Amino acid sequence: MIRDSGFVRVRVFQTAERLARALAADIARCVRRRPNIVLGLPTGRTPIPLYRELVALYRRGGVDFSRATTFNLDEFVGIAADDPRSYHAFMRQHLFDHVNLHARRTYVLDGTAADLTRECDRYERAIARAGGIDIQLLGLGANGHIGFNEPAAALVAKTHRTALRDASRRANASWFDNQLRAVPHEALSMGMATILHARRVVLIATGAMKARCVEKMIRGPVTPKIPASFLQLHQHAEVWLDASAAARLQPARDD
Ligand code: GLP
Repeated sequence: MIRDSGFVRVRVFQTAERLARALAADIARCVRRRPNIVLGLPTGRTPIPLYRELVALYRRGGVDFSRATTFNLDEFVGIAADDPRSYHAFMRQHLFDHVNLHARRTYVLDGTAADLTRECDRYERAIARAGGIDIQLLGLGANGHIGFNEPAAALVAKTHRTALRDASRRANASWFDNQLRAVPHEALSMGMATILHARRVVLIATGAMKARCVEKMIRGPVTPKIPASFLQLHQHAEVWLDASAAARLQPARDD
């Protein structure tokens, strides 16, 4: 463990695979200790190896999700849960269909709800009813976003409807057959407070493309231009990196 300047705990692994294995083992330990754990979950390319490891652990009998609850970070507006391009579908493909999470306790925002404001309020209430989030896992947008809290003059605290930046729409085009036109312009996302109220926050970033942003979020000022920099304000925030994403910090040390 490297304790970097500031408050964020940074862990660096040689490869994304090693990171995924270590984080899956850590999460499994937490689930064993607290079977009714509440997890906040991200989508994107970054967590795919983690989900693969969690599924493998589950198959080996190393973790039981039957009493756990999950809340996903975000979903596209206008994309139905059964649409293969939805984040719902992503979660089914990579995790939900392969482990014993109870369908009633896997929450994902509904981007096709008739009243999106009510949908966001409903989500906040559901998180509160579940007792709050124990571990919030996050990916990192190359522009510094977390969930879909995009860089802006001001950030939003609660779960909300938000416009996507062009950079984020481009980054998501691969889920839409690389058709930028097909990528929604809006999403629903947990807000900054929804994320920061989690008892523990673990952001994962892998690959050289994230290195500059990782440096800014950890070393730079806390600024809405880099929403991930707000993790510096959290009591228990961790950033787990592979060597490429950590290239602008310090040499890899964890393994
Ligand atoms: C997406 C999601 C984020 C995710 C990020 C990084 O747009 N809304 O929750 O963390 O971008 O994605 P990736 O892991 O594919 O780089």
